[in-house]
Amino acid sequence: MKMNMKQTKYPDTLSVIRNRKSVRNFTGESVTQNEIDILLKAAMAAPSAVNCQPWEFIIVTDRKTLDALGDALPYAKMIFKAGAAIIVCGVPAKAHKQMEEYAVIDSTLASQNILLAAEAIGLGAIWTAAYPYPDRMNAVKTILNIPENIIPLNVILIGHPTGEDKPKEKFNSGKIHKEKW
Ligand SMILES: Cc1cc2nc3c(=O)[nH]c(=O)nc-3n(C[C@H](O)[C@H](O)[C@H](O)COP(=O)(O)O)c2cc1C
Repeated sequence: MKMNMKQTKYPDTLSVIRNRKSVRNFTGESVTQNEIDILLKAAMAAPSAVNCQPWEFIIVTDRKTLDALGDALPYAKMIFKAGAAIIVCGVPAKAHKQMEEYAVIDSTLASQNILLAAEAIGLGAIWTAAYPYPDRMNAVKTILNIPENIIPLNVILIGHPTGEDKPKEKFNSGKIHKEKW
């Protein structure tokens, strides 16, 4: 896959981490293939146990398919105004020791990279859950023709943010234990 990664300036890493927020308000504008390529490249740069990379990604930009996902998923109605969705799938057969846990952990790290990369290039994103709900996973599997032994972890909505969603202040020194719990 040839990628056009040419973009002059991205914000620095810590600003991206601090400014990332779940975006639930999208303008309805579409997302370009180049933008999706940047997100996928970030996703696959994630760490994974023994570098197994037990993940696959389904890219959806077709309006009818996006709407079908929105109809099926109770907490993803924002998809009706999103420009694209990335479904991150875990592949237990390819995970370290064929453990489902590693497929989920590693695919979660890839997902977080997508969320951060979206923030970095000025898009908005949100993780909406499929895993661990059997009904949601089955609905996503049916709509997207996902094989039985694959875990659809989430449906990450991608789009242009309206600007209404803001990062939350979550730092809490009370959660830090010095030396011992
Ligand atoms: C595993 C997981 C599942 C989530 N599922 C949903 C969901 O189905 N719908 C939704 O609107 N937000 C979902 N979220 C987003 C969370 O609500 C959000 O991350 C949280 O409120 C913190 O806000 P922030 O992402 O803006 O920091 C999910 C997040 C995670 C990590």
